[in-house]
Amino acid sequence: MIFHIVGTRPNFMKLAPLYSELKNRKVEQKIIHTGQHYDERMYEVFFKQLEIPQPDFNLGVGSLSHAHQTAEMMIRIEEVFLREKPEMVVVYGDVNSTVAGALVASKMGIKIAHIEAGLRSFDRTMPEEINRMVTDSITDYYFTPSADANQHLKNEGIKEKHIYFVGNIMIDSMVKFMPKIDARENVVALKKYILCTMHRPSNVDDQESLQKLIEVLEEISEVIEIVFPLHPRTRKKLLQIGIDPKSFDKIHFIEPQGYYEFIKLQKKAEIVITDSGGIQEETTFLGVPCLTLRENTERPITITEGTNQLIGQDYKKLKTEIVQILGEKAIKGKIPDLWDGKTSSRIADNLVVILSNL
Ligand code: UD1
Repeated sequence: MIFHIVGTRPNFMKLAPLYSELKNRKVEQKIIHTGQHYDERMYEVFFKQLEIPQPDFNLGVGSLSHAHQTAEMMIRIEEVFLREKPEMVVVYGDVNSTVAGALVASKMGIKIAHIEAGLRSFDRTMPEEINRMVTDSITDYYFTPSADANQHLKNEGIKEKHIYFVGNIMIDSMVKFMPKIDARENVVALKKYILCTMHRPSNVDDQESLQKLIEVLEEISEVIEIVFPLHPRTRKKLLQIGIDPKSFDKIHFIEPQGYYEFIKLQKKAEIVITDSGGIQEETTFLGVPCLTLRENTERPITITEGTNQLIGQDYKKLKTEIVQILGEKAIKGKIPDLWDGKTSSRIADNLVVILSNL
């Protein structure tokens, strides 16, 4: 029996295709949702649109400090594992739910498969980098999206036979659901717009940085209007510093969007500005220019091969780039190797063999 552990929005589009491929292969599987994300717009809409069955276990952990959240998840996951005795646990990405699941499994001698293993930003101030490093130090089977990830794992002493280069599983969901996404009406009536998302603590938790960012976006919105779906963390921080999201004419702050709606918004955008990891990958696949407001990325292939550029907090550069891109600057990009919509099938084939040899 395989147990999938998920908890946040970016986990769900990785779980969906693998669950479906394993089901086709008649593998017994159950889903634990830690409850890290719990709002209808951060969780339920994704399960519905991505056709994931209701989780077998919803641990309801919710929002807490890092230590409290991770510890609470570990306690509740252990209780489930003690009863259910899974043979293997599959964890996704780099969030607190990922490391919590991996730590519990490892101490109970349960095999761990990590989807999206090997990515590194080498920036230990990001909680996700710690989660990646810890998870990969105790994983048994590493499923990687890109060659740089393989190299990091080898550098860290992981034997090649445990590394499976399978490609990017996020792309599978886009490929599978693209007909439904295309059939959706446009989310906004604007002809041309920039799509912006921001939720990293480094961009939104600091009052000065957030204020500056909003000022810059206001200037940009005089050139081209901005659509900005608000992550709950960002909404909270804006309100805390007295910025009313409704008070802007040309920045359209909207609620967090469903999966179909958000991919549609990306596809139709002139440019995407973001600090998300997954969006750097989705824009590369869609061929939409992406300007990332971070100093580093754990997904460098989106720069070397895709449409992504790191801007950090260099807002002068941000404005220049926007003007150039709108002025038809050619953005070269290709879709990286094995980002082909078949990653989940490759993972499932491997997992079936691994399970039969346990
Ligand atoms: C988490 C991940 C991050 C990922 C992001 C995707 C970690 C360390 N961080 O960050 O890597 O990019 O998810 O969205 O795991 N909240 C709600 N409703 C929800 C969920 C959260 O209102 O359904 C609010 C709460 O006020 C909470 C805040 O958002 O305190 C942050 O949530 P949390 O899960 O702690 O971190 P994210 O910023 O979402």
